[in-house]
Amino acid sequence: MGIFASVLHLIKDLRETQIVGHGYSILERNCQMSCSEPEESVLSHSFGNRKYFRPSVTKLRRLYVRYLMSRMRTVVQTFSLVLLALLTLPFAVYAINFAQGGLLDSLPAPHYIRSDNPIANLSIFSHMAAGAAITALVPLQLIPSIRRRLPALHRWSGRLIIIAAVATAVGGLVYIPLRGTIGGTAMNIGFSLYGVLVLLTAIQTIRYARARRIADHNAWALRFFWLALGSWFYRVHYGLWYLATDGLWSNPQFTGGFDLAQNVAFFVPYLVGAEVYLRIKQKVERKAFVHTSA
Ligand code: HEM
Repeated sequence: MGIFASVLHLIKDLRETQIVGHGYSILERNCQMSCSEPEESVLSHSFGNRKYFRPSVTKLRRLYVRYLMSRMRTVVQTFSLVLLALLTLPFAVYAINFAQGGLLDSLPAPHYIRSDNPIANLSIFSHMAAGAAITALVPLQLIPSIRRRLPALHRWSGRLIIIAAVATAVGGLVYIPLRGTIGGTAMNIGFSLYGVLVLLTAIQTIRYARARRIADHNAWALRFFWLALGSWFYRVHYGLWYLATDGLWSNPQFTGGFDLAQNVAFFVPYLVGAEVYLRIKQKVERKAFVHTSA
């Protein structure tokens, strides 16, 4: 009775989530990829003009476990992204306040970032405002239920994030040659590389979305996601380091060992992590494909 109830529950859930019913081919493909039994053992029948599966109990159990795991992954992902959004919010607020102060000329004078060069001022302060927008929006952009259930919102906020990313990166990249960073050449190079990568990943993300190449879009979006958080990671790294070491290998001129490492450590390790993840995912998918076609 218990199994029967959960089977009924599973079918209801699967139908609601469109795995069965209109998503007929998705389930069929999953079964082909994972089931060792011949395809015929997965029975299907017509109901009205729809096709439904009537798989064996073992197969249903396996599907149920897989379904529960994917549900759990969605819950964990959503929880982590909301938590991340809350954690990054104070930095976004700090950046927007800084930008507002700079653009409205209300920062205490003299200020290390503000100068007599109006282009440098406009570019760095607008970069902060645009940067605040991507920092606040990027975690929410990846929430699975928003992506699935509100695709129009995902598309519009996506466009907004890409425009903001371009403004952030261009603003920073214009400012560096005009004024230079507080940390000198090493910081100029690290931050310029960061800006170029943000720009590149943002453009690739939208390019593949427009071309409907969703796998490529997702891969570039993941790289962009980690880069977009880089500016926040920079502050987090400093905060944690100062808490742990009271500022060892760090000085106000940003020339200490820790400072020099930070010129790239706020984005390179995360990008490498994303790249490793994408390679592993690609390998697993390729293996599953070979297994299916064999
Ligand atoms: C991702 C979102 C970003 C946010 C929210 C952000 C925010 C900020 C803020 C608030 C500052 C002022 C420094 C301080 O905190 O005291 C700053 C400085 C700066 N940012 Fe960004 N930024 C972002 C991304 C970028 C990117 C992509 C570049 C690439 C070129 C960049 C380049 C710079 C530069 C060159 C400075 C001046 C550094 C100095 O001389 O102190 N930022 N940013």
